[in-house]
Amino acid sequence: MALPRLLLPSLLVLSSSLLLLPTTCHGRTPRHHLPAESAPGHPARRLASASASVKLVNVDNYGARANGKDDSAAFLKAWDAACSTEGAVLVIPKDKTYHLKPTTFSGPCKSNFTFMIYGTIKASTHMSDYKEDARHWLLFESLDNFTLQGGRGFINGNGRKWWEKSCKVNKSLPCKAAPTAVTFYKCNNLKVADLIIQNAQQMHLTFEHCVNVKALNLLISAPEKSPNTDGIHVANTENILIKGCVIRTGDDCISIVTGSKGVLATDIVCGPGHGISIGSLGADNSANYVSNVVIDRARFTGSTNGVRIKTWQGGSGYAKNIVFQNIQMRNVSNPIIVNQNYCDQKNPCPAQASAVKVSDVVYRNIRGTSATKVAINFDCSKTHPCTGILLQDIDLSLSVDVMNPASDSDSKQQSSAAAATTNYNNVEYKLMGKVSP
Ligand SMILES: *[C@@H]1O[C@H](CO)[C@@H](O)[C@H](O)[C@H]1NC(C)=O
Ligand SMILES: *[C@@H]1O[C@H](CO)[C@@H](O)[C@H](O)[C@H]1NC(C)=O
Ligand SMILES: *[C@@H]1O[C@H](CO)[C@@H](O)[C@H](O)[C@H]1NC(C)=O
Ligand SMILES: *[C@@H]1O[C@H](CO)[C@@H](O)[C@H](O)[C@H]1NC(C)=O
Repeated sequence: MALPRLLLPSLLVLSSSLLLLPTTCHGRTPRHHLPAESAPGHPARRLASASASVKLVNVDNYGARANGKDDSAAFLKAWDAACSTEGAVLVIPKDKTYHLKPTTFSGPCKSNFTFMIYGTIKASTHMSDYKEDARHWLLFESLDNFTLQGGRGFINGNGRKWWEKSCKVNKSLPCKAAPTAVTFYKCNNLKVADLIIQNAQQMHLTFEHCVNVKALNLLISAPEKSPNTDGIHVANTENILIKGCVIRTGDDCISIVTGSKGVLATDIVCGPGHGISIGSLGADNSANYVSNVVIDRARFTGSTNGVRIKTWQGGSGYAKNIVFQNIQMRNVSNPIIVNQNYCDQKNPCPAQASAVKVSDVVYRNIRGTSATKVAINFDCSKTHPCTGILLQDIDLSLSVDVMNPASDSDSKQQSSAAAATTNYNNVEYKLMGKVSP
């Protein structure tokens, strides 16, 4: 696959012999992308320093074959060995493809454990393998001071069979859960870096009930039409940095849901996909809370949304203290959108009085083009209007091909379509600087 320029330089470039300790990798990583790479504790650096205290555990030495048959048992044996060793590095060798069934990698483990993927890990496509747990493929749980590190490594969810079985793709099928490719559950001081995650069965990478997380330099991709394939999903997680990620999937690039606070996503390239979303929140009359989220420096191309907050009617709680800034939009269908009447189900959603409150949201320095007429859309709740909304230095215009549709010979229609518009419904807002439209 072709790697985008943003990611390539920061992936570790490794010598052909996978277990020989590379001595130059930290020198090849530009500092502006991965400042942490030069830190003494970084796994690449630890490998490079050839410290005697690093214990390498190679899955091949535990019976992994990479021959198309299932390697799960060998991976679990290697996991146990690495888990019980201080500062272990579990190595998945390069140029090999390992097949795994749904597998749970459990802690607690000794500190500073690195799971290092040079090769490819592919998901089983036998549906019967997922009988016990249809929600997770690779599940990492109860880990402290853990790193999942790629050295040009791939995690491939092999999701096609699942997409075909989705009720969003084939309306005659019942709606069923599909696995998240990689889940981190109850992890503290966690780093996931320099990996390519593709074709997840459903979501690609989820953090649940985690604290202090870094997700750095990830490339996440799946076809635009693949259903529910969110890139990075953040739930009940505090203090997370998502940086330098390129995400092209069939659903949200990043989704941030209840219980999450202290989320910083920066240097994100998104699209195709559904944009960066806070929510959905408040489904099934739930009380949901998201606060202190900053999305800084992002580029959206051809996504169905840019920055979005979505809540269901009937919920409660809040989404507050949110900043979206320094964002470039290219042909994005809903560049700025708050939807408090979100309804993603077969039956229509009845009107309900309660709502998740949306307040104190800043949109600053957001520029580019909208693929639809309404570039700024606040569809807030009648009973709980959006408050404390600030728009500053916004410049969104219509995409050229919307302004001049090839088939449109009616000049009146054309001129009325020539300007982007706004919709402010039940919102208390302030404008600063130049805001257009
Ligand atoms: C683990 O890594 C941290 C941070 O890099 C370092 O300060 C600590 O000394 C390491 N602990 C061990 C036991 O190697
Ligand atoms: C994780 O690392 C931190 C900092 O090096 C250390 O204080 C803490 O005890 C470690 N946690 C565990 C469970 O080893
Ligand atoms: C949709 O699912 C039905 C029932 O399993 C099946 O018969 C049909 O071929 C599927 N349609 C497509 C387009 O895959
Ligand atoms: C812009 O987006 C619209 C709607 O998604 C799409 O139909 C059109 O092809 C896109 N234009 C370009 C130039 O990508």
